[in-house]
Amino acid sequence: MTIGLSPDEIRAKAERLGPWFHNMDLGNGIWTAPDHFLGDYPGVKFRGFAHALPADLTGKSVLDIGCNGGFYSIEMKRRGASRVLGIDFDEDYLAQARFAADITGQEIEFRQLSVYDVGALGERFDLVIFMGVLYHLRHPLLALDLIHEHAAKDLLVYQSLQRGSPVIEPVPENAEFWDTAMFDAPSYPKLHFIEGSYADDPTNWWAPNAACSAAMLRSAGFAILDHPEEEVFVCRRVEVEPKPWTGPVYPAKGVPA
Ligand SMILES: C[S@@+](CC[C@H](N)C(=O)[O-])C[C@H]1O[C@@H](n2cnc3c(N)ncnc32)[C@H](O)[C@@H]1O
Repeated sequence: MTIGLSPDEIRAKAERLGPWFHNMDLGNGIWTAPDHFLGDYPGVKFRGFAHALPADLTGKSVLDIGCNGGFYSIEMKRRGASRVLGIDFDEDYLAQARFAADITGQEIEFRQLSVYDVGALGERFDLVIFMGVLYHLRHPLLALDLIHEHAAKDLLVYQSLQRGSPVIEPVPENAEFWDTAMFDAPSYPKLHFIEGSYADDPTNWWAPNAACSAAMLRSAGFAILDHPEEEVFVCRRVEVEPKPWTGPVYPAKGVPA
């Protein structure tokens, strides 16, 4: 428990838990990442789409996937959510999130779990936050499929690093084999694969363009309700007609006994 810590003790503990990716106000002029390369991040991001999320989450449950230092978990709890669960596979970030929630007086559960294991929660959430994680995954569509199949009940808030065209246009449902020109259009859904490193981060595997983010979301069963800023999509989970070629893929699926 951190209750009763002096400002100097809070500052010292925040430094011990660093470095932080989330810049958060711990009171008394103490910020967790004041020199963040993206500025006041993710506050500056959140201000661009905060209006697109329900202002009152009273009675709602929230799952924050890849919660990092807990910024979005804390913001959703401040909106009155009855239950917020933050998951991340990195224990160092979870320690930061627990500390930040404690200092800011928000009761939030944080658990070490990979997005690929959301099925183990055995629970669906009214609001799932999936921000800043997809492009770090070797298997991004699998993650979206698993969130749809196991964790999302209603709303999904998605964000990804994006590169390429920001334009989203209708995509043909089908095309002839010799119709190739559309693939050269900058606005065609494109998922750029990064074999090496990008921005000094070897876990940046993918950089979708905006149309690709939108297409992957639709394909995984998320209807897009709002696109409040270039990288952010607010979606509603919809039932998808089961087809043998969609949904999470398991190696043994369909293999005759
Ligand atoms: C760029 S940060 C985004 C943090 C926060 N969601 C945001 O938007 O500011 C990516 C986070 O995803 C976490 N992460 C990466 N792969 C993950 C996985 N397979 N399962 C759960 N968390 C993961 C990282 O540990 C990190 O905290």
